[in-house]
Amino acid sequence: MQRIVLVGCGVVGQGFLEIISRKRNILKRMGLDFRIVGVIDSSGGVIDENGIDPLKILEIKKRGNLPEGIRFEDVINSVDFDIGIEVTPTNPDTGEPGLSYIKAMIERGVDVITSNKGPLIVAYKDLMRLASKNGVQFKFEATVGGAMPVISLVERSLAGNQILSIEGIFNGTSNYILSRMEKELLPYSQVLLEAQELGIAEKDPTFDVEGIDTAGKLVILANAIMGIDAGIKDVEITGITGITTEAMDLAQRNGYAIRLIGEANREGQLKVSPKLIPRFHPLALDGTLNAALIQTDLAGEVFIIGRGAGKIETASAILSDLISIST
Ligand SMILES: NC(=O)c1ccc[n+]([C@@H]2O[C@H](COP(=O)([O-])OP(=O)(O)OC[C@H]3O[C@@H](n4cnc5c(N)ncnc54)[C@H](OP(=O)(O)O)[C@@H]3O)[C@@H](O)[C@H]2O)c1
Repeated sequence: MQRIVLVGCGVVGQGFLEIISRKRNILKRMGLDFRIVGVIDSSGGVIDENGIDPLKILEIKKRGNLPEGIRFEDVINSVDFDIGIEVTPTNPDTGEPGLSYIKAMIERGVDVITSNKGPLIVAYKDLMRLASKNGVQFKFEATVGGAMPVISLVERSLAGNQILSIEGIFNGTSNYILSRMEKELLPYSQVLLEAQELGIAEKDPTFDVEGIDTAGKLVILANAIMGIDAGIKDVEITGITGITTEAMDLAQRNGYAIRLIGEANREGQLKVSPKLIPRFHPLALDGTLNAALIQTDLAGEVFIIGRGAGKIETASAILSDLISIST
């Protein structure tokens, strides 16, 4: 039996609680028995070393907030647990609050899983060193491409290969906007508004449309699967806000699509920019999907596509990390 503490109980945290409950029998058949012993978010928390029913937490969250009073410090100081799942909001500048939470859990000697890019963008190397020093596993598949299993694909299925380069679509919001602009030949501002109304773009879309989110994911991939010691300052970033209908039209008439591409190569060049992609190339994707084209020395080209976000999709990547840690 493994005891889990969940830090953050928003979209992804609740998705995790939902699937851990839904998959209980399958996990049991795999010989896995997970017990949630603590859940906290910014309003409070619940602790029970005998196990908390995930569905009860979902009920509480449906009605309002977790009970006040219990903080992360209470969990770290008084609860026995084996695995911490950190799913608080991303801050690409400081990594907080996730960075401090992850460090504290690693120092406590528990394995950690996160979907939060911030801590990895800010302190990838430090966190890896800390995890190794404390003999714990630190997993973060959900940070890049949501449910698209790009990190485990390289670590497991492509083990032994050298990754020569990677290029991909890592931001569903930008891809949705560009593919809509292309299809309808509508201006950026109008499509952005539509994406905001549909909940695909945030009220403040800067992070997505200026390429910062893609750059953060590229930094994680460069460090994790290419062994490049890079931070966000090493990425040359151009977003999609300057793309005009005329440029779209011209590209289309010449057989190209324009897509926001993140790319990294062995020479350590990291770049995020709108690129002309031949219309029938696998990266000329429409909608909110994510994709990555990976060049390897042994397996050649490998292409992967998947859902970059979503409550259950992102929780799926966390569950996969959890099973990998526990088997
Ligand atoms: N949503 C996706 O599809 C997706 C996909 C891939 C990766 N991610 C990443 O996964 C993480 C979680 O995303 P989300 O969509 O679940 O975000 P969210 O809905 O905003 O949930 C964040 C949770 O963290 C809690 N929180 C905020 N500040 C905290 C603090 N100081 N201490 C403890 N808990 C705190 C929030 O509590 P309150 O509600 O009480 O404020 C909330 O429960 C983010 O880093 C995001 O970038 C999300």
